[in-house]
Amino acid sequence: MQLKPIAQQVVAVVGASSGIGRETALQFANRGASVVVSARSQSGWSH
Ligand SMILES: NC(=O)c1ccc[n+]([C@@H]2O[C@H](COP(=O)([O-])OP(=O)(O)OC[C@H]3O[C@@H](n4cnc5c(N)ncnc54)[C@H](OP(=O)(O)O)[C@@H]3O)[C@@H](O)[C@H]2O)c1
Repeated sequence: MQLKPIAQQVVAVVGASSGIGRETALQFANRGASVVVSARSQSGWSH
């Protein structure tokens, strides 16, 4: 399967308030993806 470059992707991450989900969302965002996040609680996005 041929994926678009990350900067052209929309990535949805659930459980993005901490841990693996948070890090995954930050890494995709740092690489230019459009990121949609969700979780039950909120966390500071300090990066
Ligand atoms: N960290 C590691 O090195 C590692 C290694 C191997 C496996 N794992 C496994 O990978 C999973 C995630 O690990 P993690 O370190 O990222 O954990 P974490 O820091 O506790 O993050 C869990 C995430 O899932 C969400 N969540 C927790 N309980 C939930 C529920 N009942 N319903 C919906 N969302 C829920 C939390 O968000 P909200 O509470 O805000 O909704 C949070 O964003 C765990 O099952 C862990 O055992 C982790």
